[in-house]
Amino acid sequence: MGKVEGFPGGDPGRGDLPTCALPAPDQSPCLLVIFGATGDLTARKLIPALFNLFLNGILPRPFAIIGCGRTILDGDAFRLLLQEKCAATTINHPRWAEFATLIHYQALEYGDANGYHQLATTLTELDQRLGCGGNRLFDLAVPPELYPLIGAGLTGAGLAREYKDWAGWARLVVEKPFGHDLESARKLDLVLHQGFKERQIFRIDHYLAKETVQNAIMLRFANGIFEPLWNRNHIEYVGIVAAEELGVEQRAGYYEKAGVLRDMFQNHMLQLLAMIGMEPPASFGAERIRDEQVKVFRSLRPFTAAGQPEGLLLGQYGPGVLAGRPVVGYRQEPGVAPDSLTPTLAMMRLYIDNWRWQGVPFYLISGKRLAKKATRIVIQFKGAPNALYREVLGDTIGANRLTLGIYPDEDIRLSFQAKVPGHRICLRQVDLDFNYYEDYPGRVLEAYEKVLLDCIRGEQMFFWRQDGVETAWEFLAPLIDICEQCSNRAGQLLPYESGGWGPGAVAEWLRKLME
Ligand code: BG6
Repeated sequence: MGKVEGFPGGDPGRGDLPTCALPAPDQSPCLLVIFGATGDLTARKLIPALFNLFLNGILPRPFAIIGCGRTILDGDAFRLLLQEKCAATTINHPRWAEFATLIHYQALEYGDANGYHQLATTLTELDQRLGCGGNRLFDLAVPPELYPLIGAGLTGAGLAREYKDWAGWARLVVEKPFGHDLESARKLDLVLHQGFKERQIFRIDHYLAKETVQNAIMLRFANGIFEPLWNRNHIEYVGIVAAEELGVEQRAGYYEKAGVLRDMFQNHMLQLLAMIGMEPPASFGAERIRDEQVKVFRSLRPFTAAGQPEGLLLGQYGPGVLAGRPVVGYRQEPGVAPDSLTPTLAMMRLYIDNWRWQGVPFYLISGKRLAKKATRIVIQFKGAPNALYREVLGDTIGANRLTLGIYPDEDIRLSFQAKVPGHRICLRQVDLDFNYYEDYPGRVLEAYEKVLLDCIRGEQMFFWRQDGVETAWEFLAPLIDICEQCSNRAGQLLPYESGGWGPGAVAEWLRKLME
C-alpha cells in the first residue's frame, strides 16, 4: 500500500498492490512417491498437475517422481504408459521428454514388507544422486482400503521417520474418504499415526483447494463491512449448493457404499459450511483456522429423530434427458444394484447452535444428474424494515443477498434494491458483481497443482486435521445410521428425473438459491 502525505499509517483508502502475506512457496527439493502410479487418479490429476507446475517453473529443483504400483514395468514402459494416458496434455508437447526424465518406477506389492525396504534403498540412492535433502512426499493415489497397508509398510521400513540433523521431512498425502464412519476413521488414524505425526499427514479435500472457497475466509476477515452483519441479527438463512450434471459414472463400486452423504457432505459440504460459520481465528495459521472449523462441527445441532429426521430429504435419480441426450437412472448404471437404496441427492437443514448463528438455518443441497453443474454459497440477509415503502410498494421488497460463486461463475455478487429510472416510483433488484479473476494477469493454478505445492511447502491450512474428520463423523454418522436403519427406507428416498432440479421441495429451494 502506498504512503500518502499526511497519513502516517499509509493510504487510508484503497491499496494499489495485492497483499500477499504468506511467504512464496518454499522450493524444498524432494522425492515424490506415488502409490497407485498406473491408476486413474495419477493419470487424470497428478501427472498433468505436476507437468504444469514443471512447465511453469514452479516445481522445486531437484525433484523426482517415483511411481509405485503392483504392475511389473520398467521405467521406460511406465513413462510411455503415462504419456499415453495423459495424451491430452502431453502429446507432442516439446517439453514432455524433459519432464519424463524426472519420472522413475518401482513395482511393489503393497502387503510385502521387503518391497518397502527396497523402496527405501531406491530413495536413498536417488537422494544421494540428486541431493533432495532426505525430503519425501508419499501420495496414496490408491483405493482407501489400501491406506492402512501402505501406511504400515512405510512405517515398517522407517520411511515415516523425519531426521532433524539432515533436515529431511516425510509427508503422507491421503485422499478422501477418511473412513466409512467414525470407528473406521479412528482405526485408519491409529494406523497412520503409528509412524506419521499429525503434522506429516495431508488429508486432501479438493474443495479446500478451490480459489473461490479459500477466498470465503479472506473475504470475511479481510473486510470490515461483512463481519458486523455476519450473524443471526442480519442473516435470514445460508444456502450451500453443489449441484452436478455427472452421474455415478464408473464409480458404482465405491458410490453404492458411500452415497451422497459420505461422498459430498462428510467432507466438501461441511467444509463450505465451516468457512461461512467459523469465528475469526486468533491468527491466520493452519492450526488456528482448523480449531475454528472443528468448533463449528461441534456446535452443529444433532439430528435425533428416529425414521427419517425432519430437515433431511434424500433422493435418487431416475432416467431423464440431460443436455439433449437420454440418460439412464441410477439403478440402471453399471455396477449398481437394480433395487439400490443409495441416495444420490440430499438436502439438509442444519443449525449451528452458538451465539452467532442461533436460529439461522443453513440449507445444504448436493445431488448428481441435476440440470446443470453449479456450486455456490448464498448468504440471504433479512429484509429492510420497509415501513417507509410499504404503502407504495407492498411487502415484496427483496432483501439483500451475497452470493459467492464457486462454479461455473467464480464471482462475488451483492444484490440490492434500487429505484427504476423514470417517473414511476418502483424498485428493482440490481447486482454488484465481481469476477474473481478480473484484473488478475497471473496464471491460475488448478486445484491439484495447489494441493501438491502446499504439501511440498508443508502448509496444512487447507487440509483436514484428524479432530475435524472425527467431529464431522460424530455429527454425520448417527444421521446416516438413522437413514440406513429406517424401516421405510425405500419410501423415504424420493425419485427425481435426471436433468431436472430434483424432487419438489429441493427443486423449489434450488430455484430460489440459483436466482
Ligand atoms: C468428489 C466426489 O469428491 O467431488 C464426486 O467424490 C463429485 O462424486 C466431485 O463428483 C465433485 O467435485 P467438483 O470439484 O467437480 O465439484
